[in-house]
Amino acid sequence: MQHQFSLAYAQNLDNNDPLSNYREQFYIPYLKDKKAIYFLGNSLGLQPKTAQDEVMTIMEGWANFGVEGFFLGKDPWLNYQQKITPLLCNIIGAQNEEIVTMNHLTVNLHLLMISFYQPTKTRYKIICEAKAFPSDQYAFQSQVKLHGLNASDAIIEVYPKEGTDLITSDDILATIEAHKDSVALVLFSGVSYYTGQVFSIKAITDAAHKAGAYAGFDLAHAAGNIHLQLHHWQVDFACWCNYKYLNSGPGAIAGAFVHQKHLHNNKLKRLEGWWGNTAANRFKMGNTFTPSPSAESWSMSTSPMMLLATHKASLEIFADAGFNNLITKGKALNAYLFFVLNHINQPEEKFSIITPADPDERGCQVSLSIHKNAKAVFDTLLPNGIFADWREPNVIRVAPVPLYNSFEEIYIFAETLQQILKTA
Ligand SMILES: Cc1ncc(COP(=O)(O)O)c(C=O)c1O
Repeated sequence: MQHQFSLAYAQNLDNNDPLSNYREQFYIPYLKDKKAIYFLGNSLGLQPKTAQDEVMTIMEGWANFGVEGFFLGKDPWLNYQQKITPLLCNIIGAQNEEIVTMNHLTVNLHLLMISFYQPTKTRYKIICEAKAFPSDQYAFQSQVKLHGLNASDAIIEVYPKEGTDLITSDDILATIEAHKDSVALVLFSGVSYYTGQVFSIKAITDAAHKAGAYAGFDLAHAAGNIHLQLHHWQVDFACWCNYKYLNSGPGAIAGAFVHQKHLHNNKLKRLEGWWGNTAANRFKMGNTFTPSPSAESWSMSTSPMMLLATHKASLEIFADAGFNNLITKGKALNAYLFFVLNHINQPEEKFSIITPADPDERGCQVSLSIHKNAKAVFDTLLPNGIFADWREPNVIRVAPVPLYNSFEEIYIFAETLQQILKTA
């Protein structure tokens, strides 16, 4: 489609957007008495208006029934997880029993690495992307230390080619091949937090398995953003947070995936707690752990109900809108964003788009490397009503999302940025 850089054209795209009304289901922040343009769904998704009611239902259950709220009331807490998991299957591309909602992302990464990173004398390396999110780097380093190994020897990072920002699939696959006799685990992001690049989860998983290693993924920037088929792609494990594209609130409860093929493997080591017991055994208070026949066997502690409530509120909106419809709109928003950014970036090139140009290699996020006075340019966005975010040394990240952003907002953002860059 040949796009146009005009307000009327963008408004027309919104008028023809079947999902445009979903915006009404979210609280949009205000700046100077005007609704802001919020392009930070990749950082903290906005609050669904139903979230407070869901939390109130839990509070009422607690007020009215005390601990019996586990069994009584509108939404008994004991079975609450079972209402959430089916809502995630389509988003994660997983079977019901492969998903567990628990803890936080870095905690889940550690718990899954305990199971899937069991190095031996000969097979002990972790292959990951260079400049992975810092929390992941600390997790890799501390896991390696836990096994008495040296990070400099055991962690192999795949770098972008000199002078570029993106890591090619060929380089990832060649690195796995080069370490095929010593690699224990390949652990990548689904989408790079910095560039917005989508990594080829299937190709990486296939290559890891061919080398005799496990394949795991940090899906913080992928869950709710791109199409995932974790079960079908034979991914061994994955974890994600729910506060970004999945709009479940600051410090939201996180998610984890363990492939069906591992769920009954008694040899797999795991840290265990009473909540991972089968539901029938959980309250018997015996001293024998009977793992739930699902990824829930990785769960350790009593579910935090208030966190599950906001998560459920958000997932119900995803289910109502239809995840495939959201992906389609997300791609359309992103294509228009690319068009308007390229339009304002001529004749003089004031920034580079470091996110891949290929639409299949990006989700909602676009990262701009600003050539001159980058921080000043970024600092001028908020006073102009635009929420974006900053990554050192000169990158502005924006992520219009399909549930609550519009084509009109993309046009206004580009026009505003054009004005700011003129005087930068
Ligand atoms: C890619 C990635 N991994 C890990 C984390 C850390 O997540 P948490 O603080 O929920 O453990 C983040 C947080 O933004 C992230 O973006």
